[in-house]
Amino acid sequence: MAILVTGGAGFIGSHTTLELLNAGYEVVVMDNLSNASAVSLERVKELTGKDVKFYQTDILDREGTEKIFKENKIESVIHFAGLKAVGESVAKPWEYYHNNIAGSLVLFDVMRKNGCKNIIFSSSATVYGTPSQIPVTESCPKGEITNPYGQTKSMLEQILTDIQKADTEWNVILLRYFNPIGAHESGRIGENPNGIPNNLMPYITQVAVGKLKELGIFGDDYDTPDGTGVRDYIHVTDLAIGHVKSVKKLEENPGLKIYNLGTGTGYSVLDIVHNFEAATGVKIPYQIKPRRPGDIATNYADPSLAKEELGWVAERDIRKMCEDAWRWQSNNPNGFEA
Ligand code: NAD
Ligand code: UFG
Repeated sequence: MAILVTGGAGFIGSHTTLELLNAGYEVVVMDNLSNASAVSLERVKELTGKDVKFYQTDILDREGTEKIFKENKIESVIHFAGLKAVGESVAKPWEYYHNNIAGSLVLFDVMRKNGCKNIIFSSSATVYGTPSQIPVTESCPKGEITNPYGQTKSMLEQILTDIQKADTEWNVILLRYFNPIGAHESGRIGENPNGIPNNLMPYITQVAVGKLKELGIFGDDYDTPDGTGVRDYIHVTDLAIGHVKSVKKLEENPGLKIYNLGTGTGYSVLDIVHNFEAATGVKIPYQIKPRRPGDIATNYADPSLAKEELGWVAERDIRKMCEDAWRWQSNNPNGFEA
């Protein structure tokens, strides 16, 4: 029996595939490589000494997806595949809804036709909008979402919730990630954004490696201790291990579950800059810029439900997140390109 990882060549998917292999699971990856390189999986094989079956297949491709289920005994699916750039989603809503929603509907249909009703879905803290309480618990209501990317996360949560309600043979775990950063400690796999990074840590590492001149800090007048935005940064390896624990949870037939995956600690943009400088010895020049539309002041998780029910806690601290992000970026200034 195997676990199918959609989007498994990407940032979080490759780290999760690695941790699943290390935990002894058989893994099949499908990815259309629209935002990833198959080299990541070669490196996962190197690091684990184990094999991964890879299909370059789009979740929108029904026949191709069916072929995967025919050729493998898939017990559960971890569904990472999707487009994820917030700004781009505002400019290209059709592409985001088509890829993320229509693609997922094909996947869920092929799953049920093949008797596979276990799924872990990559959701996001973005579904809370401006959270009604900090730290954010899973019982906080969903909030107003300002972009099509976030809408696809919220809609897919609802679709899976309704599917599970109608057919209780389904087991659905919705994982709401906070801010995944860092890289595998080997420095062999990591985040490889296309073009200029939107997110803080890849922007910082590209400044550090000399590809970008300086960091722009989006606002220093928020109601936070130093005025810059506060987020719950989580090491991608801790996040990946959260998926392994969730796979174990699926084995108990839990029905529908929702978990926040975060550390429970908030760091400001300036905290991240200072921690990065301390961990790496590299200075990060920055300039204060206006606030970025859609940003909120503070967002961090209450991760106690995942601790109670999955036996999972994030163990890697901010220094390790910075060291590992830097090891990846400095060893691979052009990502997976030779
Ligand atoms: P990523 O872009 O590295 O990974 C997504 C993968 O899906 C890529 O490898 C891409 O090639 C693949 N893909 C996209 N559309 C596909 C399709 N139609 N068919 C097959 N493969 C397809 O992104 P990531 O950071 O690893 O994110 C993984 C998941 O986690 C995404 O669903 C993302 O929305 C979600 N998420 C990410 C973050 C974050 O900050 N990185 C936060 C919350 C949620
Ligand atoms: N920031 C900067 N400069 C930059 C980039 C970011 O100052 O160049 C600031 C932002 O204003 C924010 C913080 O750094 O205060 C974090 O920003 P990110 O873009 O790294 O992350 P977000 O919290 O905005 O969003 C991320 C993912 C979303 C996901 C969300 C969940 O990009 O997909 O976390 O909380 F939904």
